[in-house]
Amino acid sequence: MRDLNELIIRMTLEEKVSLCSGLDFWRLKSIKRLGIPSVMVSDGPHGLRKQSDDAKYTDINNSIEAICFPSGVTTACSFDRDLLYRLGDVLGQECQAENIAFILGPSINIKRSPLGGRNFEYFSEDPYLTGELATTYIKGVQSHQVGTSLKHFACNNQENRRMTASSEVDERTLREIYLAGFEKAVKEASPWSVMTSYNRLNGIFTSESSYLLTDILRNEWGFNGCVMSDWGAVNDRVAGLKAGLDLEMPGSRGTNDAKIKRAIKNKTLSEEILNESIERILTKIFEYVDNKKEMTFNKEAHHQVARQLANESAVLLKNEGILPLSANDCQIAFIGEFAKTPRIQGGGSSHIKPYRVSSALDAVSEVGCISYAQGFVTDVDETQIDLLNDAVELAKSSDVAVIFAGLPDAFESEAYDRQHMKLPNCQNELIEKVCAVQSNTVVVLHNGSPVEMPWVNEVKGILEMYLGGEAVGEATIDLLFGHTNPSGKLAETFPLRLEDTPAYLSYQVIDDEIYYDEKLFVGYRYYDTKELPVLFPFGHGCSYTTFEYHDLVVSQTSMRDDESLTLSFKVTNTGSVFGKEVAQLYVQDLTSSVIRPIKELKNFEKVALEPGETKIITFELSQRDFAYYEVKISDWYVSTGNYHLLVGSSSRDIRLQTKIFIESTKSLPSKVTQNTTLGDLMKYKPLNKMISSVLEIMGEKNDNDAISKEMKLAMIQDMPIRALRSFKGVDNYMIETLVKTLNHLIN
Ligand code: BGC
Repeated sequence: MRDLNELIIRMTLEEKVSLCSGLDFWRLKSIKRLGIPSVMVSDGPHGLRKQSDDAKYTDINNSIEAICFPSGVTTACSFDRDLLYRLGDVLGQECQAENIAFILGPSINIKRSPLGGRNFEYFSEDPYLTGELATTYIKGVQSHQVGTSLKHFACNNQENRRMTASSEVDERTLREIYLAGFEKAVKEASPWSVMTSYNRLNGIFTSESSYLLTDILRNEWGFNGCVMSDWGAVNDRVAGLKAGLDLEMPGSRGTNDAKIKRAIKNKTLSEEILNESIERILTKIFEYVDNKKEMTFNKEAHHQVARQLANESAVLLKNEGILPLSANDCQIAFIGEFAKTPRIQGGGSSHIKPYRVSSALDAVSEVGCISYAQGFVTDVDETQIDLLNDAVELAKSSDVAVIFAGLPDAFESEAYDRQHMKLPNCQNELIEKVCAVQSNTVVVLHNGSPVEMPWVNEVKGILEMYLGGEAVGEATIDLLFGHTNPSGKLAETFPLRLEDTPAYLSYQVIDDEIYYDEKLFVGYRYYDTKELPVLFPFGHGCSYTTFEYHDLVVSQTSMRDDESLTLSFKVTNTGSVFGKEVAQLYVQDLTSSVIRPIKELKNFEKVALEPGETKIITFELSQRDFAYYEVKISDWYVSTGNYHLLVGSSSRDIRLQTKIFIESTKSLPSKVTQNTTLGDLMKYKPLNKMISSVLEIMGEKNDNDAISKEMKLAMIQDMPIRALRSFKGVDNYMIETLVKTLNHLIN
């Protein structure tokens, strides 16, 4: 074990300060005389973007050749914790081989709107799924003694003005939606570092927020790694250091280092704070250095991992008996430029220079009966009439048309948001025209976020490949021809139209502020609560086989919130081919004590089943699965009452359900005032009986009453205590005494 304290004591102030910022864009500083080496970091998150020494930072796409794995939007649809571990595992190996100490990922911000320019890099609209997948990814990478940097903490949910805008979010929404994924990953996987976001949160830059970086991240969640800034995110370096920001990346060419030194000299910053930050940075540097392995990896083998990830993540959105295709018995037309040049990743800092890209056309070369027409040009909106006509002719003379459509690079990227949810006009027109002459049409999609599908009812099959990484071509052929049975499920809802989306009215930065007015109602939490029709719901995905859910059993139907219960059920493959099913568990709060989404994902499991095979799935549920964040106690709280446990194949396809009762063991702080209503008083257990009998008497109907007993009761329920003054014989003194006595009784 190294004695870091002793090392820090031997440092000059200049040396200490120097460690708090990067040497250049990708390296941390060294102190040779003390044996502290310079280590390197690299993007992330779905492959290495290690820039060579002579590449300019702004030359984003100039990095070493590496395996481009599918993006976060894609791998999230695998709903497969082990697969995300495997992704982390191969990335960790590649980091070791390329001398990278930290990979900058995973990226786990919540998809607040489908317009988010960086949605392709993020996992989901759901914090539970996000947290689970981030956890195993981190464990996979760190199993090789390489660090991760969990980013972007927090509330980077749009790209427009991301470096200055303030995300205005209430505490409960923050905890339940935007922090919960980070919380799980930090608590369960201990990432070596966390990267702050660029934006402000409720007015304060996240890189200067002691509330986020110290109170929540370190004190509440027990984070013991180092916090680094996003690239160029630092606003006030000294305020950041005080708040818990250890490392500034890439650095400010000495300006901010000098500010730290000055603050220590003039005693506005304690040297102790600086020492703590350095210790956290050094701990991780040496964890990497002391465990450095000589490692090589086989690029072809990792390419096959990329293929497996794409295979297990693609979502079969629709299939009216047209898929899988058969290579033997028909003429198949592949149409669309993406069949030749697939879109495999999004733009920005996560852009990988791929080792070997496979297109569907390359991968299908062994199948004899495929013909091809380009159909459209990928990066323009307008139809090229000759390309369209050729494609329609080809479709007409074939038995099946497979159209490879998708979003052009320029439509979605880091640093700016999308303008709309539409595919380019030329592609929509092509699909419509092909469907008019060919009833057997399938669409394969390459996109990083949902698109509107005006032709959804015209086509027989839709395969969502998202941004499938460099092996997407091989995976597409595996899936289209049934060598792999699709098993991905949507990690986000596909709305029908942009106007239906929950943040539609407020997803705009005005005066550098953006209000999260839809609060908890993000994604399916909104659509399902409002029962809005959607194009494809959260958790949806078809298979070439069928699954039956049966025999739901719970260990108890009533429990206290400090106990736990197990729920189990069986899933049977009732079709004729091998397949995998993602069973999802949602919880619905029936207590009506606070406003809550109609259901929330609390667990999931992907099971592999041979035809006719049955497996039992068991989930354990405890306090947090039923709780909401109660701001009155700054903690998670379970209301007493009934809850539904819903087991389904998607958020809109619930197959089994049961009801349980939970008794809370915590009580919320309560105070009776003159404005407490008679109905409110009934919520206090010790008063419950007494008040209900008083209400009964007061509600009683006289013969000459025009209003019913029920109406009277409802009116009295909402009457505040002070209103009793209007009754004969009740004076102010009596009211005050009553309030005092009631407070005494309930506390
Ligand atoms: C991105 C980070 C990335 C960093 C380094 C920033 O612009 O927001 O996610 O890790 O650049 O490339």
